[in-house]
Amino acid sequence: MTIKSATLNGVATIEIARPEKKNALTVAMYQAMADALRAAAADKAVRAVLLTGQPGIFTSGNDIEDFMSRPPGQGGSDVMDSPVFQFMRALVECDKPVVAAVTGAAIGIGTTMLLHCDFVYVSDEARLVMPFVALGLVPEFASSITVAQRIGHARAAEKLLLGEPFTPEQAVDCGIANAVLPAGEVVNHARRIAERFNQLPPGAVQGAKRLMRAPQREQILATIGTEGALFAERLRSPEAMEAFQAFFQKRKPDFSKF
Ligand code: COA
Repeated sequence: MTIKSATLNGVATIEIARPEKKNALTVAMYQAMADALRAAAADKAVRAVLLTGQPGIFTSGNDIEDFMSRPPGQGGSDVMDSPVFQFMRALVECDKPVVAAVTGAAIGIGTTMLLHCDFVYVSDEARLVMPFVALGLVPEFASSITVAQRIGHARAAEKLLLGEPFTPEQAVDCGIANAVLPAGEVVNHARRIAERFNQLPPGAVQGAKRLMRAPQREQILATIGTEGALFAERLRSPEAMEAFQAFFQKRKPDFSKF
């Protein structure tokens, strides 16, 4: 099983569990996460959602093999219907609080999804990085606007154009994360925060979250669409193919010919 979901004591936990591939996310895993988020949103017994990974790795981002063999929009299907976009929409539209326990490296969508969570706790071993450009791709999940909104264009350019990582402390300083915790404590801490919603009135919590997110929600959904169209095009580009092949051949990509 690669996505484990279970509800306990008012908290729907969605755990990415594919450690042998560093928790890389496949099409089926996005679908399972989208379904679990929508089920949590609809279930009265759920007061908050907890997103987590495995010790040492939150997620290494999209499965690169899937990028090559099962890109969104394959066979003329609508890019926006693909499981990854269903997952993005389900997270953006979730009115219940979402708490992330970043158990280790958070790469690509592993970082961009955090910008749509309400509470983010990072392990002191975590590293947050968005290497889209180095992979021949462009930012996704509205990160082309949300990162600069949090940290300003100049620092966003370091993260999105150069792909420089955030240390756990930088993630807190930038307002992307709430706190850094020792690796062994991050999940329990995040769970305790999620369980606090059992003591709060759910209608007020959801109304408050909706209001906090409302000014940006439409812009975020529109940006996800604009980025998605270019991202799907880039996935088929020779630059991306060179980057993906280099990853599997365990060598540095060579972009000198482009
Ligand atoms: N997609 C597909 N497979 C992946 C993967 C990904 N995103 N990330 C890791 N894997 C696989 C590796 O190919 C390897 O498989 P193998 O054992 O069959 O050779 C296995 O997971 C272990 O990865 P490895 O690279 O050997 O581990 P590491 O500890 O040296 O490095 C990472 C871990 C996460 C830093 C490194 O795997 C990495 O950079 N992954 C790609 C991240 C990425 O660019 N994601 C896309 C973002 S848009």
